[in-house]
Amino acid sequence: MEKVVRLGSINEFLDGQFRQFELSLLDVLVGRIGSQWYAWNAQCPHGAFNIGRGLTKSGKAVCPGHGLTFDLINGNCIEEKYLRLTAYKIETRGKDVFIDLSGDMSL
Ligand code: FES
Repeated sequence: MEKVVRLGSINEFLDGQFRQFELSLLDVLVGRIGSQWYAWNAQCPHGAFNIGRGLTKSGKAVCPGHGLTFDLINGNCIEEKYLRLTAYKIETRGKDVFIDLSGDMSL
C-alpha cells in the first residue's frame, strides 16, 4: 500500500468537519479545525466496527458497535480511558492534502 496518499484539496475540508476516506486497506477519518489537522484510523479499538458511521457535528464519533464515544481532537475514548484511536500525519503541500500512513503518530 502506498504510504503517502493524496486526499484532495484543502478547500474540500470545511473547518470543524471530519470526512471519511476509504483507502485500499484502511478507512480513515480526516478533519481540520482552523489550521490544525487530525487523521485517525476509523476502526474502533474496542472491536472491528467503523466509527466513521457515527460521526457527530461536535468533533466526536460514536461507535455503532457498543456506543463508545471517541474525541476526534485527541483520539481518546471518553468512556473507556484505555482506548485510543490510531493517529496518522497529515501534510499539506500547496493546495493539496496528503496523509502519511507509515505509522501511528500518537506513539
Ligand atoms: S466495537 Fe466500538 S464500541 Fe465496541
